[in-house]
Amino acid sequence: MKALILSGGHGTRLRPLTYSQQKQLIPVANKPVLFYAIEDVINAGIHEVGIIVGPNSEQVKKTVLSREWDADIEFIYQGEPKGLAHAILVAGEFLGDDNFVMYLGDNILREGIAEHLEYFKKGNFDASILLQEVPNPRQFGVAELSKDGKTIKRLVEKPEIPPSNLALVGIYFFKPVIHEAVADIKPSWRNELEITDAIQWLIDHGYKVGWTKVTGWWKDTGKPEDILDANRLILDDIRTDIKIMTKARIHGRAVIGEDTEIDGNTVIKGPVVIGKNCRIKNSYIGPYTSIGDNVVIENTEIEDSIILEGSEIRNAGRIVESLIGRGVKIINGTSHPFGRKLVIGDNSKLIL
Ligand code: DAU
Repeated sequence: MKALILSGGHGTRLRPLTYSQQKQLIPVANKPVLFYAIEDVINAGIHEVGIIVGPNSEQVKKTVLSREWDADIEFIYQGEPKGLAHAILVAGEFLGDDNFVMYLGDNILREGIAEHLEYFKKGNFDASILLQEVPNPRQFGVAELSKDGKTIKRLVEKPEIPPSNLALVGIYFFKPVIHEAVADIKPSWRNELEITDAIQWLIDHGYKVGWTKVTGWWKDTGKPEDILDANRLILDDIRTDIKIMTKARIHGRAVIGEDTEIDGNTVIKGPVVIGKNCRIKNSYIGPYTSIGDNVVIENTEIEDSIILEGSEIRNAGRIVESLIGRGVKIINGTSHPFGRKLVIGDNSKLIL
């Protein structure tokens, strides 16, 4: 069994953050989203991992290789993001004749894939998919089940009128017959080779496609609000781990990295994760906040937000539900003329 993890694509829904970094590298609770997928497949006993890389391939390689993994990792270059089924086409050589799990690198699955993999193996399926009920099925691939609910009748990608509220999770198990399917399907209206069409091909050609239901939480971190949501869900499970002595008043669970200095006028209300070498003064860090390494925060209240490494926030009032990139400066100074002085990248969003 191999794993194919997708870390390509342009991540347009996460601009401006994705102008400078690959979307699967955005950290949730101070860990790149992509790492949750790699850890999950390794925990499920898979040790041959292919990672599809696209526009920022070097950045993805460097980040992944900055850590030791209990797996052989190969990077596979996809020139253009021409669809999830296209990723299987370009990974043909790596996948060979092995069964594999395809895992979208922006998906996080709390319960992990182990049980779903077991179901795929035991049932001798040609493919098996994961489904979860969602309130907004139009944003996903959607499954229509047979009347008895046992088999999958039809799959549709982002339908105008969804046949059910069962969304396809971005994790799929396949036998090698999927290569025949991806070679035979045609690009969709959005000019992508859709994985839903490839699985539909299997159904139409009489192959056995199973499904399992996801019972814990699952997040596709495609949009800023999804990243903040995933951050809340992960922080809900953290345990206190403080690697430094701090004078701050800490309520609830907090993880605080080495060499971080927090003064006695600061209040921290967990769950919160703070990285290494940060300076936090006279501030309030509220629940569901993740702060990366080397961040400076002074005279500011931050809650329910993600601040990436190297940012500096001073006298900024109260910041909530925000996703702040790397090396950002938010400073309320006293220079003249008074007013908001902004240097903001394309597609930024400020709600003042
Ligand atoms: O997250 C679940 C959904 O993922 C499913 O319900 C849909 O059926 C499936 O099509 C997919 O929809 P998305 O619109 O979320 O797919 P997206 O284009 O965002 O791509 C998913 C991931 O795969 C993302 O991390 C980028 C990567 N990717 C995407 C494409 C199209 C690649 O690496 N190469 C590609 O060619």
